[in-house]
Amino acid sequence: MAKYNYDKKVLKGLTPFPFLGEVKTRTAAIEAAPDTIANSMFNANILAGRLHPSIQHCIISKVIDHGDAKSFTLTPDAEKGTKELAYFRASQYVSVSLNIDGALVNKPYTIRSNPKDALGTEHTSYILTIKLTNPSYASGFILNTWKEGDRIDISGPLGDFYYQELRDAKHVVAIAGGSGITPFYSMAAAIVDGIEDFDMTILYGSRTADGILLKEEIEELAARSDGRIKVIHILSHEEAEGYEHGFITAELIRKYAPEGDYSVFMCGPKAMYKFEENEMKKLGLPKRRYRMEMSGDYLKASDNADFPAEQKGREYSLTVDIRGEKKTVPCKAEESLLWAMEKAGIRAPSHCRSGECGWCHSKLIKGKVYIPKDADGRRAADEKYGWIHPCVSFPLSDIELCVYPTE
Ligand code: FES
Repeated sequence: MAKYNYDKKVLKGLTPFPFLGEVKTRTAAIEAAPDTIANSMFNANILAGRLHPSIQHCIISKVIDHGDAKSFTLTPDAEKGTKELAYFRASQYVSVSLNIDGALVNKPYTIRSNPKDALGTEHTSYILTIKLTNPSYASGFILNTWKEGDRIDISGPLGDFYYQELRDAKHVVAIAGGSGITPFYSMAAAIVDGIEDFDMTILYGSRTADGILLKEEIEELAARSDGRIKVIHILSHEEAEGYEHGFITAELIRKYAPEGDYSVFMCGPKAMYKFEENEMKKLGLPKRRYRMEMSGDYLKASDNADFPAEQKGREYSLTVDIRGEKKTVPCKAEESLLWAMEKAGIRAPSHCRSGECGWCHSKLIKGKVYIPKDADGRRAADEKYGWIHPCVSFPLSDIELCVYPTE
């Protein structure tokens, strides 16, 4: 059997002199090149940077007062380097950087406006509609202090609580509680403009008729939708003609949901999700057919049945290591490690605040924490090697934590 599968005679005919000449040519090219490293930007990188900016500098260009809520129109702050706002999927959120009396906080808020308003490179804008919530440390601060002309920093669009045609049914039953209408407003605007292609029945729960946030605006969108969007108002604290009364029960959903297949999207307070999960079971809906918007603080962890009761009221110390610099701050058992850091003026990375996005991913060096099961979004390897999400981790002892800011 031949040792080589090519004709060696051809190689023997080649002389090395042309190759030796190449060395000279190459050396000359290297000497002629500039000392700086070539900066290659590919179109894909440019597009990724536009769609997923780590920070967007904005100006508040308009404020509309709705009573206990306000709508803020944000436009790019070109002076600080943001020339356009990133395009988003209807119902995504941005996290807003706040300095509340020295507490450095990132809070997620849904972009309530039409994705079309962020399309292109000119005059792009977002609208955030923010209602006074409990706890009010961030919403109260925003409603009391934000005014036209202020400059704020926000993240790029985040979250996966959007319509996905490969996963979701062609008809969405949207269950909104209070300011939970905001993602569905954005979806409705996208449907009317032909950006999204599905039908939507919105079951919108409010306490009283007077307190319905964006009532005229959402009904105006429904009127322009060619019947693709329907809005049903449900009042929990009063009975009035033309409104349903009570809670959004399985029976009520059955009354307004279409015949056949549909997906349920929910956005509202945690108590509403607990109630609605039960209703989903009564409807016999498989888990893949209902989804909840989870971004926002994980509240009342100590009310969970598996939270160790003896821990209530205790306070521990939290030692934070950021790039070798250590700081020790107090931390209550009923407060998240993230909130303890923020309160102490540590700019810890975070976006969703609910254990979903992974942005706050930190290494637990020492100590024990309580992590609610319904907010533990870690991978098995993270769990095994001691990585935690401080936004949903509550101290059960003194803690040592290594935090990795991205900027
Ligand atoms: S901020 Fe998203 S997981 Fe903690």
